[in-house]
Amino acid sequence: MAAARPALKRAIPSLRSTFLLPRQQQQQPQCHHHHVTISRRSLSTSPSLRNDTQSTTTTTTPDRETHFGFSTVTESQKRAMVASVFTSVADSYDKMNDLMSFGWHRIWKDHFVSTLNPGFAPLSAPSGPSSPQHILDIAGGTGDIAFRMLHHAHAVNANPNVKVTISDINRAMLSVGKSRSTSLPASQQAALSFVEANAEDLSKTRALTPILSQQEQTFFDPSTATGGIPDNSVDLYTVAFGIRNFSDIPAALREAYRVLKPGGVFACLEFSKADKHPLFNSVYKEWSFRAIPLIGQLVAGDRDSYQYLVESIERFPRQEEFRDMIKDAGFTVSGEGWEDLTGGVAAIHRGMKPRV
Ligand SMILES: C[S@@+](CC[C@H](N)C(=O)[O-])C[C@H]1O[C@@H](n2cnc3c(N)ncnc32)[C@H](O)[C@@H]1O
Repeated sequence: MAAARPALKRAIPSLRSTFLLPRQQQQQPQCHHHHVTISRRSLSTSPSLRNDTQSTTTTTTPDRETHFGFSTVTESQKRAMVASVFTSVADSYDKMNDLMSFGWHRIWKDHFVSTLNPGFAPLSAPSGPSSPQHILDIAGGTGDIAFRMLHHAHAVNANPNVKVTISDINRAMLSVGKSRSTSLPASQQAALSFVEANAEDLSKTRALTPILSQQEQTFFDPSTATGGIPDNSVDLYTVAFGIRNFSDIPAALREAYRVLKPGGVFACLEFSKADKHPLFNSVYKEWSFRAIPLIGQLVAGDRDSYQYLVESIERFPRQEEFRDMIKDAGFTVSGEGWEDLTGGVAAIHRGMKPRV
């Protein structure tokens, strides 16, 4: 991971200056979303981005438009840019999460995991309290959700038959997670595996490989895949603070549906809309847009990545719209389909793959 750091710095000399038009040149000043035209040549300015782009252009065709924060880019451009953001922030990610959220992300994650109650007889295999369970933590990054899942299943529910696969498109994030995992009890380490994959196509995966040189790309290259996640093989699919970064969210939801067993649960923890409480919301927005990029600059030396993070939160669909996307993928939802946390700053959405 340390070896990757200088390459990361080169990879994003400035995301905004490499990819994004200056604010005064925005083509759609009437709304604060701007359209970016990026040539392949401009993406090739950094070795990491060039590698990432080469690998990702093979994943999805045609290359449709999507959003990168407030900018409009193509899906393959977004993959390369998101790769650079998370490669850049990997080392400081855990510290920054605490600073940006005053530690609230820990409370949300604890709540997310305890309400899912891993290790307790899943609906997909209700054969007893110690029944095997396969949890797939997508966009698992540095391991916060996966480690909590294992602790809850093994220590709280005393079920050692729960296995967790932590999967991410970015090897830099997974590598930080892998080194953090060495402090887990041996039995939990044995139940954990690290897999590189794009959430939008889980038929192509490979086990995490170490980052050996600064020039190496840290973005999963599907042409190097050695396996895939089979249909109907997962009891619980989790994704926390990951899905807003995906280029093609409906494709990721379809993949979640494919890999889950009938009765299996899709669970997503993501930033959401707090606009039911206007005063609170305006303070929260001020904090997000003013303080977070500044903290990113001061603590992680990277303002642009944190500017992207707050813009991506703003762009993400509201609770009802995301619930409908989950239903469109085939899941059934109960009640209104989500739970607001901290007034809607974050929300948990759940869906179940119907039993046939
Ligand atoms: C904000 S981090 C969240 C990490 C972790 N789940 C947590 O809650 O701390 C978002 C993660 O999404 C990953 N990611 C972005 N696009 C992805 C994709 N298409 N497939 C899989 N992971 C992706 C990033 O590499 C990054 O590790």
